[in-house]
Amino acid sequence: MTILIKGGTVVNATGESRADVLIEGETIAAVGPNLQAPGARVIDASGAYVMPGGIDPHTHMQLPFMGTVASEDFFTGTSAAAAGGTTTIIDFVIPDPKENILAAYKKWRGWAEKSAADYSLHVAITWWDNSVYEDMGTLVKDHGVNSFKHFMAYKNAIMADDEILVSSFMRARELGALCTVHAENGELVFRLQKEIFERGITGPEGHPLSRPPEVEGEAANRAIRIAEVLGVPVYLVHTSCIDALEAVTRARLEGQRVFAEVLSQHLVIDDSVYRNPDWNHAAHYVMSPPFRPKEHQAALWRGLQAGVLQTTATDHCCFCTPQKQAGLEDFRKIPNGTNGVEDRMGVLWHHGVRTGRLTPSEFVAVTSTNAARIFNIHPKKGVLAPGADADVVVWDPAKTRTISAKTHHQNIDFNIYEGMTTVGAAAVTLSRGRVLWENDKLQTEKGWGKYVNRAPFADYWGAQKIRNELATPTAVKREKPKK
Ligand code: URP
Ligand code: ZN
Ligand code: ZN
Repeated sequence: MTILIKGGTVVNATGESRADVLIEGETIAAVGPNLQAPGARVIDASGAYVMPGGIDPHTHMQLPFMGTVASEDFFTGTSAAAAGGTTTIIDFVIPDPKENILAAYKKWRGWAEKSAADYSLHVAITWWDNSVYEDMGTLVKDHGVNSFKHFMAYKNAIMADDEILVSSFMRARELGALCTVHAENGELVFRLQKEIFERGITGPEGHPLSRPPEVEGEAANRAIRIAEVLGVPVYLVHTSCIDALEAVTRARLEGQRVFAEVLSQHLVIDDSVYRNPDWNHAAHYVMSPPFRPKEHQAALWRGLQAGVLQTTATDHCCFCTPQKQAGLEDFRKIPNGTNGVEDRMGVLWHHGVRTGRLTPSEFVAVTSTNAARIFNIHPKKGVLAPGADADVVVWDPAKTRTISAKTHHQNIDFNIYEGMTTVGAAAVTLSRGRVLWENDKLQTEKGWGKYVNRAPFADYWGAQKIRNELATPTAVKREKPKK
């Protein structure tokens, strides 16, 4: 099918211009002024921005976690994403300790087949032996995986200790794969949780008390320094506080290749939510790292504006109220996670672009292009240019949405942004040339989404190797001392 998106302002990370977008089948054929395509379906974009579909590099669809399974599956989740203008997600394979990581990856691939929009998979390294070493190689060489995740928290479950981190980072270095980390000191969290619970604080307000910013700052700095010593790039997921932001800033100023992500929810929600008198309400904000005092939000915005934080994500990991209630007597048992995949683009446009913090081009960079570059799927994704996948969002800057669980498309009975009105929303969303969202209606189909292979980073790593070689120490040549 041929589609011509006419009369809009095309925005890429590199700039914006008045242009039309011609789509042939699944691919962008041309971007330019006054394009003609007799017989094509025409989408009128006058008054709208036409941008690359959003890429959410951090989601957890149907994740088995903390004794339950996230309520959003790959079909409902990618559909909700499309309603909000996001056309690609990168989800996580999280093997149980001792579970074969290749078998876990295949299991996730099976679950993800029903996706309505494109997806890729990071693989978490939750344990270590020679089979993990070998399977990391197979995943990179044969299955298009170029990033591995390390949870520095969740002790006695999926936590990676320093031995696992170092082993995995060294293997990733051999493979040209990117190491990503959830930075929280799992031992400290474990001890603080116990102390706080024993003090009689059993409700959701115990959650942020057990995960203060220092716990995240310590782990962020440790992961960054381990990566520095081993000479590998590192990517921090869900950077939530000044302490971690400072670790990233320092390392980047030293020339270290460190990337960092921020969640849209950490930019606009503060820790007062945990003191809500309604237990269910407070429990729905239990996620890790937790929401922080307001000064951290201001710093995160500055980090995003300055380019210290390159990507925005959601960590979309939904649990309905009955699932959250597993922790009624003990905050440690509340499944961690919140919604967000449908809301990210609107929240960032409203609080980022409309406030002047971000230009439309910067918005495209932090919602799409930077993730495509960092995870090596650019220019197939993350740009509107001939040859790219026709993942496009026609963005109406005047469209108003009042966020509510009653009207959202996410499969969860709560929305952490409930009642927030955002101006600017997706009018039409296309995934590889197919309309998924138009006239406020989803037109998604199970299985339309394709797995996106991600090649390792050969060139990029070259520069890192030169840096390592420059720093290679040499032995001092000496005469043998006389005895
Ligand atoms: O609370 C969260 N973030 N849940 C999902 C798992 C993780 O830590 O990313
Ligand atoms: Zn995490
Ligand atoms: Zn996560």
